[in-house]
Amino acid sequence: MGNVALDEKIPNNVNLSGDRKLQKALESWQPNFIDWWMDMGPEGFQQDQIYLRTAVSVERGGWAHFDYVKMPDYRWGIFLAPAEQDRTIHFGDEIGRPVWDKVPGDARKELRRIIVTQGDTEPASVEQQRLLGNCAPSLYDLRNLFQVNVEEGRHLWAMVYLLHSFFGRDGREEAEDMLVRRSGNVDSPRILGAFNKPIDDWLAFFCFTMFTDRDGKYQLAALAESGFDALARTTQFMLTEEAHHLFVGETGLRRVVQRSCELMNEHGGEVREHGGIPLDILQKYINEWYSASLDLFGAEDSSNAASYFARGLKGRFKENSKRYDDHLALEGSYSVERLENGRIVSNEIPLRRAMNLVLRDAYVEDCERALLRWNRILENHNVDFQLSLPSDRFNRHQGLFAGQPFNCQGELLSQEAYDAIRDQLLPTEADLNYVRSCMVRVTEPGKFANWIAPPRKGINNQPLDFFYAKFDEHVRA
Ligand SMILES: [Fe+2]
Ligand SMILES: [Fe+2]
Repeated sequence: MGNVALDEKIPNNVNLSGDRKLQKALESWQPNFIDWWMDMGPEGFQQDQIYLRTAVSVERGGWAHFDYVKMPDYRWGIFLAPAEQDRTIHFGDEIGRPVWDKVPGDARKELRRIIVTQGDTEPASVEQQRLLGNCAPSLYDLRNLFQVNVEEGRHLWAMVYLLHSFFGRDGREEAEDMLVRRSGNVDSPRILGAFNKPIDDWLAFFCFTMFTDRDGKYQLAALAESGFDALARTTQFMLTEEAHHLFVGETGLRRVVQRSCELMNEHGGEVREHGGIPLDILQKYINEWYSASLDLFGAEDSSNAASYFARGLKGRFKENSKRYDDHLALEGSYSVERLENGRIVSNEIPLRRAMNLVLRDAYVEDCERALLRWNRILENHNVDFQLSLPSDRFNRHQGLFAGQPFNCQGELLSQEAYDAIRDQLLPTEADLNYVRSCMVRVTEPGKFANWIAPPRKGINNQPLDFFYAKFDEHVRA
């Protein structure tokens, strides 16, 4: 284990050639994956040269190799973080026992469900984003989109590896189904709500990578604590890639705020006439994507979450750190709000039952940090507007506040009152159309669409006017 085999059909550091049966099974899944990628991957760019990083090892600093590649030739590989000697389970009822190198029989169903649910999000996001290349605001952004896409493809590989190697025939069937479901398809949708929402413009893409991918970070972080060692090590390595996706989202939105501020300062407050994104529309996008992402954390009070924790399957964010002094979580309680007879009441529930909420609260803190940064840009430009996260009761489709007409401040309204202000809270058809009208394709190196500021620096220390993608016309030039 640990040796990297880069020249095999499937690059890996799991000694795949030492397990012929597994290798054959994965090699027969591979062409189906490529077919799916050609059908559902980025439309219109499959033959272009994109400046991408590829994982080639898991060593710190050394794992990312940058070069031009055509996306269908990307080397999707299977990489696990290095095994830790004598690692033990560090939370839940089996604390102190050795981690499992096989799936325990009585946790098989749960682990399969966890892995399938995580795995399903990866191809889903590629499907959601497949048309965005056609209106990319720069070559830099285009390249970032495709980097995210190929890595989501690799994350699917990561989960499929676990299914194939630990779950026998059921696992292989689940792996097939990953390529059958389709984002937004009525008959065969992806498993989770936010992964069936259309992403038709770059503002939605940045909100997705900021808020929805960030849910992914917290889910992966919780699984990186798992007592099932292969899952923990797989997700640990996924997290290193995920960091770039979150960077794309957070800095993308920051550049939108920056540009809108510049336009407002130049033109006396008006951005719409000058092709920028109005801040109220940005706020509505935030409201929509943030609330949809909160739904992904599941029920606030959850017996499943309690048993995942008890069983050592899924920990808290940074469970194995000084953040917590009690890793049993048998004592203690957590306060959960719910609606009772039209009023919000706060209940204490046993801590283990609140694990979804505990994870979500860490996520919310992380989102708030980004909001503070964006608001600092507004202040620095003397723009009298503050962006904010809506209340966690707003626009929910899962959990204790699902389907209730709360406003962004968390006040319960009548349905009529909510309907009357709905268009001030969430994007309208007109907002979406306006944003779409801003989405022009820019292909000249170093140039950026009018609605977004350039980033502070390029990728992998390359200049901003670097050829982050080469199309036929560039190659000829
Ligand atoms: Fe991912
Ligand atoms: Fe991601």
